[in-house]
Amino acid sequence: MVDPTVAAEVRDMHGVDGRVIIVTGSGQGVGRGIAHHLGKGGASVVVAEWKPDTMQRTVDELTELGIPSLGVVCDINSHEQIDAMVAATVERFGRVDGIVNNAQTFRPMRPVATVPDSDFDVFYDSGVKGTLWAMQAVYPHMQKQQWGRIVNFASSMGITGGRGFAAYNASKEAIRGLTRTAAREWGADNICVNAIAPAAATHHGEAGKQSEGYRQFIENCPMGRQGDPELDIAPIALYLCSDAARYVTGHTMMADGGAFMWA
Ligand SMILES: NC(=O)c1ccc[n+]([C@@H]2O[C@H](COP(=O)([O-])OP(=O)(O)OC[C@H]3O[C@@H](n4cnc5c(N)ncnc54)[C@H](O)[C@@H]3O)[C@@H](O)[C@H]2O)c1
Repeated sequence: MVDPTVAAEVRDMHGVDGRVIIVTGSGQGVGRGIAHHLGKGGASVVVAEWKPDTMQRTVDELTELGIPSLGVVCDINSHEQIDAMVAATVERFGRVDGIVNNAQTFRPMRPVATVPDSDFDVFYDSGVKGTLWAMQAVYPHMQKQQWGRIVNFASSMGITGGRGFAAYNASKEAIRGLTRTAAREWGADNICVNAIAPAAATHHGEAGKQSEGYRQFIENCPMGRQGDPELDIAPIALYLCSDAARYVTGHTMMADGGAFMWA
């Protein structure tokens, strides 16, 4: 029989109990699933979302479950709003231990030959700059406490250069570049910076279910299905926000049922 104190130490290492973690874009989809899972795991969760109605819905769901949360209407296209959201987090909870940079504004997917500048800017401002500004805003707090976890969002489309996704792929790969650079620069502060490339059944997944791409995905996915935001993707985010991930940084975790194991 293992000493209960030792068992508790191991359990604690694998959890997020007492942590304060921001999840951007947590009004729906993958972000909402992560907010629920982290909260059920004992974290206080900041729901940072630009749509007030879905932000409030997630906050109400967390409150119903007894999870401490703070809802902040925050457009990640705005440096000022991101700074204010992190300041509100620290004011409410006294600290920030982790951030999951999940939010991304989408435009219709276009190939390289025809992608308009305006769409490129939307993907870059919300994806790359939004992730950069959020990392910059939490860094001083994490550096001060010599502990932090940053989880960014990439895509298998970007990694594999999926046709027809020019601006999206460029922005998701730029996020991986930022992830690896910050991992190198902030490792000595015990701040781990990683990315997740998910394959999840969200409304984007639903929209594409009639497509050839979807059929190919299911055929090539060893698990034969898209991931559930809360049960398949969120546990990876929880792990990367836990103490157990203390020696993992600069990586991209493929939460895709093995579909892109060749990438
Ligand atoms: N679903 C997948 O299979 C899949 C695959 C690869 C990568 N991803 C990535 O995972 C993340 C989540 O994807 P999803 O499918 O849940 O998307 P989604 O569109 O369902 O959810 C995105 C959330 O972010 C919010 N948001 C959008 N722009 C925002 C902004 N400017 N400021 C604040 N909030 C904003 C939306 O309102 C929404 O709540 C994204 O980064 C996406 O690129 C998803």
